[in-house]
Amino acid sequence: MKIDKENINERMVSPEEIVSDSDLENPLRPLSIGDYIGQEKVKENLAVFIRAAKMRGEPLDHVLLYGPPGLGKTTLSTIIARELGVNIRITSGPAIERPGDLAALLTKLTDGDVLFVDEIHRLSRNVEEILYPAMEDFSVDIVTGKGQMATSYHLALPKFTLVGATTRAGQLSAPLRDRFGVILRLELYSNEELGKIVKRSAGILGMTISDEGALEIASRSRGTPRIANRLLKRVRDFAQVINGGNVTYNIANQALNKLGVDELGLDSNDRRLIETIINFYGGGPVGLETLSAAVGEESVTIEDVYEPYLLQIGFLNRTPRGRSLTKAAYLHMGIEPPEVAFC
Ligand code: ADE
Repeated sequence: MKIDKENINERMVSPEEIVSDSDLENPLRPLSIGDYIGQEKVKENLAVFIRAAKMRGEPLDHVLLYGPPGLGKTTLSTIIARELGVNIRITSGPAIERPGDLAALLTKLTDGDVLFVDEIHRLSRNVEEILYPAMEDFSVDIVTGKGQMATSYHLALPKFTLVGATTRAGQLSAPLRDRFGVILRLELYSNEELGKIVKRSAGILGMTISDEGALEIASRSRGTPRIANRLLKRVRDFAQVINGGNVTYNIANQALNKLGVDELGLDSNDRRLIETIINFYGGGPVGLETLSAAVGEESVTIEDVYEPYLLQIGFLNRTPRGRSLTKAAYLHMGIEPPEVAFC
């Protein structure tokens, strides 16, 4: 079965944003670096860069945030703007269709503002070219009219900070990547960090949850706060109906089993991917494109959504000849591993 964008949005454990994860008004989003749990190195560095920029009275250098979806790149960008005490404008690569769209956005900024561009790897070449002088010299060159009637204007822009976010730093063109002074990689969260996020979110939602209940949700959330918060809300529904709203380990465990999320956070889509590699490719190695055709899933989805977590839990290896499963993946599926050396 092919899982299209709409279907994948219905996966409980998809790290992609779905409508019910809600927007920037989401009360679960932390508002300051102090409230933001995890990503310690990123926070430490950012705090220094922000303080230094404020001390010098200059805008913060342009920041590129990259890493798997659902880890809080948008949240972090709003925190950066708050800590700097400036406004933020939020847009995304696919939303900026023409160079003029970007020029209009840039000229509306005021000094020090943050412009957040999500999925920045999806900007078109034409649009990207407007960004180069904007990032480097805070100026844009706008051409109006065509042929002999063409006139070019050089406009000075306010001194802004571009915060770009991407799941795929490798897809950014070198000239764009080189114009970011700060490049930060977000990592999947540990279960302990996710447990703290779940406890914090439960508090905001007015729920009672035991440490064991929070850790159970955390350990099935694939290192991703967006998934942890989504699972928490669904577990809350079960708790409400069968336990007066109180989330214990048992309630969390039962609810998550009913939601089809196993004890490592894998769902039927992950299991199908793993079974395909076992049944059709002897555990691998299998090339990404071949695997993509076999499971009817886009290769970028496999790379961005499935793989980061399967790599993190040691179920998958990337080798020059393709993707291979590990012994741990076989054992988790209850399938006898073949008698060959695993890489
Ligand atoms: N909610 C989502 N991500 C979070 C984080 N990193 N810290 C606290 N709350 C969060």
